[in-house]
Amino acid sequence: MSSFNTFKIIAIDGGAAVGKSSTSKGLAERLGLMHVDTGSHYRTLTSAILSSGEDAEEREAISKILDALKLSTQIDGRTAKLGINDRVPADSDLRSPEVNAQVSKFAAIPEVRKKLFAYQRSLADLAREQQYAGLIMEGRDIGSIIFPEAAYRFYLDADEATRAARRAKEGQTDPIAARDRMDSTRQAAPLVCPRGATQINTAHHTLEEVIEKITHLIGS
Ligand code: C5P
Repeated sequence: MSSFNTFKIIAIDGGAAVGKSSTSKGLAERLGLMHVDTGSHYRTLTSAILSSGEDAEEREAISKILDALKLSTQIDGRTAKLGINDRVPADSDLRSPEVNAQVSKFAAIPEVRKKLFAYQRSLADLAREQQYAGLIMEGRDIGSIIFPEAAYRFYLDADEATRAARRAKEGQTDPIAARDRMDSTRQAAPLVCPRGATQINTAHHTLEEVIEKITHLIGS
């Protein structure tokens, strides 16, 4: 079978506001892929834990809350979104200042990551079943932990001023430098550049150039 016909798994990793989502969505559109934003998975669990009313500082309480959450998937365009008990939270709830401030704390908890591991891997089967040409998944640990076997791995980066300007343009209050510090220094699945990943500095290119470069590198 030629590589053109082979189901592709593309891992896009990098810190906050480096351009992962715009790049992944653009590539999904261009190459006929299913798109998954795993940051929104951590935001969804964070929002559920925060609104549970239990003492969310306690690991045991968090485990109990997580056990009660049933994960589901809703496909919106090319993006597969995580639902909790059959409801996909509104984007505005997932990007509230409170979730922005707390998400890295909850994402560092092993029980939270365990809740998502098998679910995230299963999305490759869903993409195959739904006859997408492949799966593009973005996050912090996709090429290192979730799909270490992915044939295509990219690590996006940009200087802090460029990233802060992007968030400000979106009108978001988001402690991106603090999140990156927590994400890259935690014990469980820290943010790293996966072995063998191609690094791309998005501050030096337009979005179209980044999409073109990755399309060229994966040979489509
Ligand atoms: O990508 P986004 O900025 O929405 O991610 C929100 C947070 O979710 C990150 O700061 C990180 O703490 C967590 N995350 C993670 N692993 C992933 C994706 C996101 O820990 N694969």
